[in-house]
Amino acid sequence: MERVIIFDTTLRDGEQAAGGSLNIQEKLEIARQLEKLGVDVIEAGFPASSPGDFEAVRTIVKEIHTPTICALARAHPNDIDRAGEAIKEAKQPRLHVFLSASDIHLVYQLKKSRQEILEMARSMVARAKKYVDDVEFSPMDASRTEPEYIYQILEAVIDAGATTVNIPDTVGYAIPNEFGSLIEGIFKNVPNISRAIVSVHCHNDLGLAVANSLESLKRGARQVECTINGIGERAGNASLEEIVMAIKTRKDFFNLTTNINTTQIYKTSRLVSELTGFPVQPNKAIVGANAFRHESGIHQDGVIKMPITFEIMDPKTVGIPASSLMLGKLSGRHAFRERLAELGYSLTEENFNRAFSAFKELADKKKRVTDRDIESLIAEEQRTISEVYHLDRIQVSCGDRGIPTASVILIAPDGQALADAALGTGPVDAVYKAINRIVGVPALLTEFTVKSVTEGIDAIGEVLIRIESDGITYTGRGADTDIIVASAKAYMNALNRLLAAKKMAG
Ligand code: KIV
Ligand code: ZN
Repeated sequence: MERVIIFDTTLRDGEQAAGGSLNIQEKLEIARQLEKLGVDVIEAGFPASSPGDFEAVRTIVKEIHTPTICALARAHPNDIDRAGEAIKEAKQPRLHVFLSASDIHLVYQLKKSRQEILEMARSMVARAKKYVDDVEFSPMDASRTEPEYIYQILEAVIDAGATTVNIPDTVGYAIPNEFGSLIEGIFKNVPNISRAIVSVHCHNDLGLAVANSLESLKRGARQVECTINGIGERAGNASLEEIVMAIKTRKDFFNLTTNINTTQIYKTSRLVSELTGFPVQPNKAIVGANAFRHESGIHQDGVIKMPITFEIMDPKTVGIPASSLMLGKLSGRHAFRERLAELGYSLTEENFNRAFSAFKELADKKKRVTDRDIESLIAEEQRTISEVYHLDRIQVSCGDRGIPTASVILIAPDGQALADAALGTGPVDAVYKAINRIVGVPALLTEFTVKSVTEGIDAIGEVLIRIESDGITYTGRGADTDIIVASAKAYMNALNRLLAAKKMAG
């Protein structure tokens, strides 16, 4: 069976999704998990787009060694030099150059002729080749470009040294049969195509990203670009887990394989959702909460008798925890450590100790601690590791009489305890105003959602917020059995990210 190269662009195109920005530590954490998942290529960022992205790519290059690390660049000398610089220490570096190809982009955006674009593509691939052997080229908006012109560009860039040619359906316009024909046409009409891998990169504007990607594999493409949970620009990119599981489940049809360790899919999906703040819809294929739940009696009966009656995949194959074991307040360090290992966590001793005390505190309030509770609790602990200000305590008074009031104590970066109080229209408003009085950084709250992690009135509440400052959105998350405390933690998380970003920008 031939192998498909899985090129993950969660950290680049995925992060381009509105409101999905990640800091360097978060990108590194996702990159580590992508390495465990077994992706072949990680597109780590777009170094010329910001100093933060440049640093993130360099950090990933230093820490992640198994997959190829790829940096994106426009077909501009400065972009290529920045990308080349960012990946120069990678064990297996790749430079990905892209340039618009469609007449729509050439006429309205770039104001250049086809001949000029052809020349830019050729010379910028040659420039990239001075930094690395592994060069990928993408003619942007390929699905709206005349195929004959795509063939010409591809021939030119392969002659200039491109080793992968990627065909993007940038605006999610393609239909599977038509996109497949384009891929087939490339094999037939580009004379030097055997010197390059043909890749596809599909967006989901018509909900066809996965279908277009799979059709392209059927027609000979051997690299597919995708993101975890399908996050990305607008309606997103093709979803990695859907493509990989389609190839695996229907190997009779595709006769292909991948290097993906599918048992890491669920964990990767949870991590990306947690760090980007994009929830996974319950009916999302493969990783949604309902993906393996059977509600109808007939289906339940069938699955009990023989899972294959209504299940085409075993949930264990994608790493969905069996969830049979619940922990409680009598569970000790050993049981907790074992459960963490089963869930795929390996914490340092210091972080384990912090997590264990948080677990004990939770088990005092909540009778049965589930896997989802543990995931939420670990995520909460990890969020507080590199804080600027730390939430020490809050006290609120609220109700349908009187004015909601909050007092807050924060620990400042120099270790000083800073206290303040405020009134608000409700308890969350009062808490946020008290925090603002201490931190003193103006920000606009643009989104606030609260949901419970599990069923039951003693459940942990998770709060997700987004705040905006100087046109940039920062996401914050917080979890606690008290939703006002969770709201305060989420606000502190967003403010800490804002402060860290401002510090980094100087
Ligand atoms: O969608 C697109 O065209 C891209 C390119 C940079 C490959 O993301
Ligand atoms: Zn894209």
